[in-house]
Amino acid sequence: MLRVILIFGALCGCIYALDNGLARTPPMGWMAWERFRCNIDCKNDPKNCISEQLFMDMADRMVEDGYRDAGYEYVNIDDCWSSKQRDAQGRLQADPDRFPNGIKALADYVHKRGLKLGTYGDYGNLTCGGYPGSLGHLEIDAQTFADWGIDMFKMDGCYADPKTMDKGYPQMTKYLNQTGRPILFSCSWPDYQRASGIDVNYKLIAENCNMWRNYDDIQDSWDSVLGIIDYYAKEQDTLAPVQGPGSFNDPDMIIVGDFGLSYEQAKAQIAMWTIFAAPMLMSNDLRTIRPEFRELLLNKEVIAINQDPSGHFGKRVLQDPKIDVEIWTRQLQNDEYLIAIMSRYIKLPLNVNTTLADLQLPTRDTGYIVSGIRALGSNIMQHLQMKDRLQQKVNPSGVAVMKAIPFP
Ligand SMILES: *[C@@H]1O[C@H](CO)[C@@H](O)[C@H](O)[C@H]1NC(C)=O
Ligand SMILES: *[C@@H]1O[C@H](CO)[C@@H](O)[C@H](O)[C@H]1NC(C)=O
Ligand SMILES: *[C@@H]1O[C@H](CO)[C@@H](O)[C@H](O)[C@H]1NC(C)=O
Repeated sequence: MLRVILIFGALCGCIYALDNGLARTPPMGWMAWERFRCNIDCKNDPKNCISEQLFMDMADRMVEDGYRDAGYEYVNIDDCWSSKQRDAQGRLQADPDRFPNGIKALADYVHKRGLKLGTYGDYGNLTCGGYPGSLGHLEIDAQTFADWGIDMFKMDGCYADPKTMDKGYPQMTKYLNQTGRPILFSCSWPDYQRASGIDVNYKLIAENCNMWRNYDDIQDSWDSVLGIIDYYAKEQDTLAPVQGPGSFNDPDMIIVGDFGLSYEQAKAQIAMWTIFAAPMLMSNDLRTIRPEFRELLLNKEVIAINQDPSGHFGKRVLQDPKIDVEIWTRQLQNDEYLIAIMSRYIKLPLNVNTTLADLQLPTRDTGYIVSGIRALGSNIMQHLQMKDRLQQKVNPSGVAVMKAIPFP
């Protein structure tokens, strides 16, 4: 049964996905918002304000500290980059004090280093931070971004009527396409419709967006991460079928390396974002990140699973409310499966004891090799039949992740 649903999901992804050649695997990169917000005080806080220097610093770190070579590609501006006024031709323009060389020069800087530049706008009258929105300017804004060499565009939904988004976001998709420049399109469309109680048409969204935000903004805390995971669990039967190469659900930024997550919790966020095949857009300070967080973000094995070409969304298959443990699985290519045990138990490490049959893995007469992902809390290596006991220790607010590989 699980298998049938997952295969159906793959087909839908292929049929519905936005056809611009981008986001064939979950997009990876860095984004300013969660860590740096709308800090525009460059006078008193020059290192942390939204300015061209901040994005140049992050681009440098991405190259020199190995992120680019590990697959992190986009450097994304978020809100509060623009001037409060459009120019004489009605085009958006960067804040002249904080981006004295303009966005095109920043795009050139980033491209020279083998990275891509993303920017931010809003479908409504204003951005969430109160900067000019794109309502009534969609076409000219798409063209301006293309002229600057922008590679990714996130369109937010403040100061807009969510009922009109089913028309407005696809218009932007069309205008971006008409520029002839491949621009990865990230939509906040379903989040605003959900929040105002509108039925979300995910098929239409997947046809028009490479990724889309479903739920609340992430904040720098474990509670926030759990809230997103719970929403995804509740909606998993809706979200799984619309995801595939070209079109991804977006649970929001990776906050690993910030202030709110312990090391165990950081592993758990990475593990769960990998179960979702979610975009890996970090929002942290790469200039000061602690080495253990950097190593986690650069782990090759973890990135390879997140980037598995199938792009399937995982599901919560078991939950034990008594001990606050849950198990998620995700189908990978070659009939392999990812298994993530996540503990919310706050007293002690737990010994979880289950079977592959209980996890609803497709039955195989020869069983599976279960192989732990060391960086994500498991070093198991066992050949298990469907009914054999799988025993794994999992730490408080932590995870243990393993792959189940069909035994030949
Ligand atoms: C956008 O601004 C116009 C002009 O002020 C106004 O008529 C319209 O209601 C606004 N739209 C939204 C969704 O706020
Ligand atoms: C525009 O859309 C067409 C048809 O879907 C697609 O083949 C093409 O690659 C798109 N171009 C860009 C730049 O997105
Ligand atoms: C695992 O569960 C099985 C079935 O409930 C039980 O027989 C076995 O003793 C358990 N093993 C451990 C180590 O708890």
